[in-house]
Amino acid sequence: MDAFIIEGGNQLQGEVSISGAKNAVLGIIPAAVLCACTSKIENVPDIKDVNKMIDILEKLGAEIYKEQDTVIINTEKPISYDVSDYEEETGQMRASYYLLGALLGRYRKAIVPLPGGCNIGDRPIDQHIKGFQALGATVVIEHGQVKMEAPELKGAHIFLDVVSVGATINIMLAAVRADGKTVIENAAKEPHIVDVANFLNLMGANIKGAGTDVIKITGVDEMHGCEYSVIPDQITTGTYMMAAAATEGDVLLKNVIPKHMEAITAKLTEMGAIVKEEDNGIRVIGKRPLKAINVKTMPYPGFPTDLQQPMAVLMTIAEGTSTITESIFESRFKYVDELRRMGANISINGRTASIIGVKNLSATKIRATDLRAGAAMVIAGLIADGETKVTDIVHIDRGYEKLQENMRNIGADIRRVSE
Ligand code: EPZ
Repeated sequence: MDAFIIEGGNQLQGEVSISGAKNAVLGIIPAAVLCACTSKIENVPDIKDVNKMIDILEKLGAEIYKEQDTVIINTEKPISYDVSDYEEETGQMRASYYLLGALLGRYRKAIVPLPGGCNIGDRPIDQHIKGFQALGATVVIEHGQVKMEAPELKGAHIFLDVVSVGATINIMLAAVRADGKTVIENAAKEPHIVDVANFLNLMGANIKGAGTDVIKITGVDEMHGCEYSVIPDQITTGTYMMAAAATEGDVLLKNVIPKHMEAITAKLTEMGAIVKEEDNGIRVIGKRPLKAINVKTMPYPGFPTDLQQPMAVLMTIAEGTSTITESIFESRFKYVDELRRMGANISINGRTASIIGVKNLSATKIRATDLRAGAAMVIAGLIADGETKVTDIVHIDRGYEKLQENMRNIGADIRRVSE
């Protein structure tokens, strides 16, 4: 297992170019199997979850070529709809659930193990299944596998009981190949929903309204390959923005979409950081002391749950008492014990953490309890006095491309060690 060793106290300065969005590309790669065709996808981040998804598709029979950040997926020969033999691979990430929608769309059949992913609370897939059933699939869950069959896939009117990123994308993946019109109400509106829909439309699908809470899909008989470039990662951008603000740094983030960052920009500005939109990106200048603020995680365009953990680190050194309410996942506070070990003053009451700012965090050995908690631990290490060791960084490698290199390029004293 690798770990990061971080010597805290350096102010981050310089530029970072943001890689493609993990949660978009993890929907786009399975979408590429919806027809017998070849697609070229650019701006693909080199992260473990993406490489695992590529590995699974290759095992199913797809031909995939990868060069730098470009991935070419050729599914002209039929691929298998049965993923049951690859339980170990699918169990290492959440997004393996997108194989359900994509394979059902193409073959009217799919057998896919239940997904894994970050341990951040109860993560049912009942809304995905409700959607597939509405489209005409019979769904059986047995021996850890979701087995679906739909002799006929027919458009349907689906009202999601909760706003779900995964269910919205998964239903889109199947519905683009169904007969007739599907309407998804109470759909998620995240930038990656729009990105997957744009990719599908380039493949010949007919999706309207992605990015609003009502998505209308008219099924098509034919789809074809396309060339596409993935949007920049909103959460990665936000992570570097917070690292810059926490370290009193001055960092320009390039290849970003400022509109996607508005909720984060607003909160960092409220804390006293300077966030400027420049021609070629977003510049963040950190100013200490940071001011205490209140944050509640919400579906897009609200403050993203995936940045709740990094934001909590900033709050640990802000003047006054901050609160952070997690309204999406009920146990996304596992990292709090790690921050307490660094001297943070945090109390949890239900879904709300109250954080009384301390002068500084003190370095120690801490653990990345999941992907975004891992990013939060890195930021904590950057501001702590002394040497912090972050263990279990395998979680970070799932979702951040070259975190250590990028951080070093802007002045962080961080190195990777193998244990
Ligand atoms: C996606 O997870 C992301 N994962 C998560 O990113 C992200 O935190 C989350 O969306 C919210 O933005 C991927 O895109 C691969 P949801 P997902 O379905 O699809 C409940 C990261 O760090 N729900 O939007 O699992 C669910 O329990 C990761 O990059 C149901 O009740 O999230 C949660 O409370 C972590 N039934 C809420 O909805 C369902 O069928 C939102 O979950 C589905 C979800």
